[in-house]
Amino acid sequence: MPRPAARLVPLDGALLVLVATGCSGPQSALDPAGTGASWIAELLSWMASGATLVWLAVVALAIYAIRSDRDPPSERTARLLILGGGAVVPTVVLGTLLWFGLARMPDLLVPPDEPTLHVAVSGEEWWWRFRYEPPGEPALETANELRLPVGAPVRFTVTTPDVIHSFWIPSLGPKIDLIPGRVNHLVLEPTRVGEFRGVCAEYCGIAHALMAFDVVVVEPDAFEAWIASRRAPAAEPDAALEARGRDAFLSHGCGACHTIRGTPAEGLVGPDLTHVGARPTLGAGLLPNTPETLRAWIARPEQLKPGARMPAFAMLPDEELDAIAAYLDSLE
Ligand code: CUA
Repeated sequence: MPRPAARLVPLDGALLVLVATGCSGPQSALDPAGTGASWIAELLSWMASGATLVWLAVVALAIYAIRSDRDPPSERTARLLILGGGAVVPTVVLGTLLWFGLARMPDLLVPPDEPTLHVAVSGEEWWWRFRYEPPGEPALETANELRLPVGAPVRFTVTTPDVIHSFWIPSLGPKIDLIPGRVNHLVLEPTRVGEFRGVCAEYCGIAHALMAFDVVVVEPDAFEAWIASRRAPAAEPDAALEARGRDAFLSHGCGACHTIRGTPAEGLVGPDLTHVGARPTLGAGLLPNTPETLRAWIARPEQLKPGARMPAFAMLPDEELDAIAAYLDSLE
């Protein structure tokens, strides 16, 4: 009976599409947009090529051994083959790949005295606290949103108050663990502008898969303008609904956990909301940021993100939920 070879073709095609779509996009280590990611992609291609060559050689030898009708080799030849193929070749191949990998490591470090933008990262349950410390300027805190200038190294120091996380922007470079009681260092240098996605790459608890962040790489001028806009205190409400929302936000104690600079809200437990309306996403990469999703989040965060630490405010009257959502949405 003929084998149904034709049926394999669409499956192969589908697999190829699946594999190929994993090679690009805002979160692909194979589509580098930073020096570290380029180095990793290069290392991967060397490793994969080396592994393929070794595999082809082994398969060729096996086929030759099966098909050959020559007499068995002498004991001396067999011993040489085992020594060469089992010890010398692996040592040379693996040693070369190790040397190639280690030789590039220092490129990922920036001398500590070089003036670079510094961002302190803290992994929270379950979101990201980013504290910008530009050289010679006061610090600035934001959450779940990283904006970086293209073409310059950025120094990250990462830590966490409670559980272990891992900070990873696959398009830009390597990942680094956030460990309680330790400060780890990482340098990333974006090489092209664009929008990327960062993730937590270490299982940390119930919302591990729901703590992503937006990364936007821009020209240096646009970055300076962004920092300046983020330094400004929160916008004053310019509609009655928004003013009502601000009053409700303050009177229901939201300011115990959140800061909105320019208002009495100075809480440090949750994300800084001074410019929350300008963020692309809500709930650490969970939802698009709109008045509707803001309202849903305030009412029932746990339902949208199991494990979210924020208490639910579903008991507030509908008008107040609408007003708070409108106020937060206006904070651009
Ligand atoms: Cu945080 Cu996984």
